[in-house]
Amino acid sequence: MNYHNSASTNLKGLMKTHSCGQLNIDQVGQTVTLCGWVNKSRDLGGLHFIDIRDKFGVTQLSFDEFKGEASVLKSFSLESVIMATGVVRKRPDSALNKNMATGEVEVSVSEIKELSHAAEVPFLPHGKVSATEDLRLKYRYLDLRGEYLQRMISLRSEAMKETRMALYEEGFTEVETPILYKTTPEGARDYVVPSRVHPGKVYALPQSPQTLKQLLMIGNTDKYFQICKCFRDEDLRADRQPEFTQIDIEVSFATQEYLKNLATKIVRRLFKKDDSFEIEVMGYPEAMRLYGSDKPDARFGLEHMVVDAEVKSAGFKVFDEALSNGGMVKSIFVDKATKEFSRKELDALAEVVKPHGGKGVAWFKVNSDERTGGISKFINDETYNALKAKANSSDGTFFFFADAKASVVHACADVTRRHFGKTLDLINKDDYKFLWVNDFPLLEYDDEDGRFYACHHPFTMPKIDCLDDFMSGDKEKLANMPAEAYDLVCNGYEMGGGSLRIFDTNVQSQMFKTLGFTEEETQAKFGFFVEALKYGTPPHAGIAFGMDRTVMLMAKTDNIRDAIAFPKTNAATDLMCQAPSVATPDQYEELHIQSKK
Ligand code: AMO
Repeated sequence: MNYHNSASTNLKGLMKTHSCGQLNIDQVGQTVTLCGWVNKSRDLGGLHFIDIRDKFGVTQLSFDEFKGEASVLKSFSLESVIMATGVVRKRPDSALNKNMATGEVEVSVSEIKELSHAAEVPFLPHGKVSATEDLRLKYRYLDLRGEYLQRMISLRSEAMKETRMALYEEGFTEVETPILYKTTPEGARDYVVPSRVHPGKVYALPQSPQTLKQLLMIGNTDKYFQICKCFRDEDLRADRQPEFTQIDIEVSFATQEYLKNLATKIVRRLFKKDDSFEIEVMGYPEAMRLYGSDKPDARFGLEHMVVDAEVKSAGFKVFDEALSNGGMVKSIFVDKATKEFSRKELDALAEVVKPHGGKGVAWFKVNSDERTGGISKFINDETYNALKAKANSSDGTFFFFADAKASVVHACADVTRRHFGKTLDLINKDDYKFLWVNDFPLLEYDDEDGRFYACHHPFTMPKIDCLDDFMSGDKEKLANMPAEAYDLVCNGYEMGGGSLRIFDTNVQSQMFKTLGFTEEETQAKFGFFVEALKYGTPPHAGIAFGMDRTVMLMAKTDNIRDAIAFPKTNAATDLMCQAPSVATPDQYEELHIQSKK
């Protein structure tokens, strides 16, 4: 996108003739009017210069031919909004600035006016801003003036436009769905809005328009999309916001192949890939085996190896205990050319795995087949040869992750791999590695709650050939059942997720039963939806891409807030307007709400 020159317009009626990023040698001699903020003001012993800035760039204003009062110029504070008229002229050779898009010219001002005086600003929004993130969020509108966030806003706008164009080309219809609605379970808590006219009753803000888009399929919409807001009250992380935007899609009579092709089309468009670009498919079991994660960062190697068989006779207590308790052992091998680890670096790995339930990371080094350090005394020739064959290894370091819970092993090996990816500088930051991860499990059993949860959401179809087993309600079979669900993954982020949907009333009712809902609960929450399924429902499937995450990836930032004009903090607050805030006593009264003392 040409950021600096995108101010052109065919319409008359703006107060300015050009943007502050537009002027160059071609306009020399023309009289122009610029509007913008005072970026910099310099008084070089009678010679005054002001840099005027807008979204599109900065232009130098000079005043040697200015007939007005020089004191006026000094009264313009930084960040005041001004309007200046003058003639474009070439700068003297000694004053040319190659680092500035408008650096060959300046405007010799004849008239200048302050349109809005700025009080002293808490921080200057251009250049390298030194303010804390909290201060920047409090004064978001100031931070937005800077080039970086303006570029992000433009990038996001462009991404929305390209997405819309791609979907319109495929015959999609954009449909708005309600925000004041009823629960749409996506695994988080609902944000609820109390009703004034119905005492004690609430609307729920949609966690996604999931049921609504399915009802649109029942209602003959065929191919739906919407760029919509979703609301989820959940623990926040660097890539999550309580209120975020989805590119939400649903298609009647679609197979997984169609959704993957559509995702490919959108990715090609947004990430500037040519027609030969395809998304690699990886089953969930393979993703877990190789990366211990369902959203692997495939930009670098260091794949995991499951080494249960190779280490079973090593005689190392930690491995033996893990394996005899039904767990597993994984290994990562880092060759010597990539890294020779110091003792301190090896010890520090315990801290890396600790938050994921790991007690430590076992290791040993290999030099010309000689094993040293760590657990080397347990690595006899037989074990070593088996590991060497598995890893196809030479000199380097083997790392091991063992636990009675496979989930702990996967998580510890995953976090260590990602730690190596970063600290050993193995990631090409310009690279995008997309994966289509499918064959997810349908359900997850929670030991504490003693019940199943839907891995994607309760509307996801079990793998077609497992339908009979699903309807049988057999817990053993349910525990390992795959779903018709898929995710689009990029560089370690889940960019999108979707599934084929249940389109049969009985299967849907069975799903709610499996998830522990009583008949009454199902009726109260989803009765209308289960009923709708029985009036002729086309098989349908869909996906939703996280818009904020997509823009974050396009911009190569790790901070989702950069992709959002007015983001919330990790504590779900808006520091600018101080939301959430206390309502007035009248509002509580009207909403029939009494605070618990
Ligand atoms: P899912 O819950 O996987 O699926 O969400 C789809 C995508 O939305 C993005 N996302 C988020 N982005 C920012 N902050 C959050 N808190 C957040 N939560 C999710 C992710 C994710 O991949 N209705 C289904 C889609 C479907 O089945 O069609 C759904 O919402 O990028």
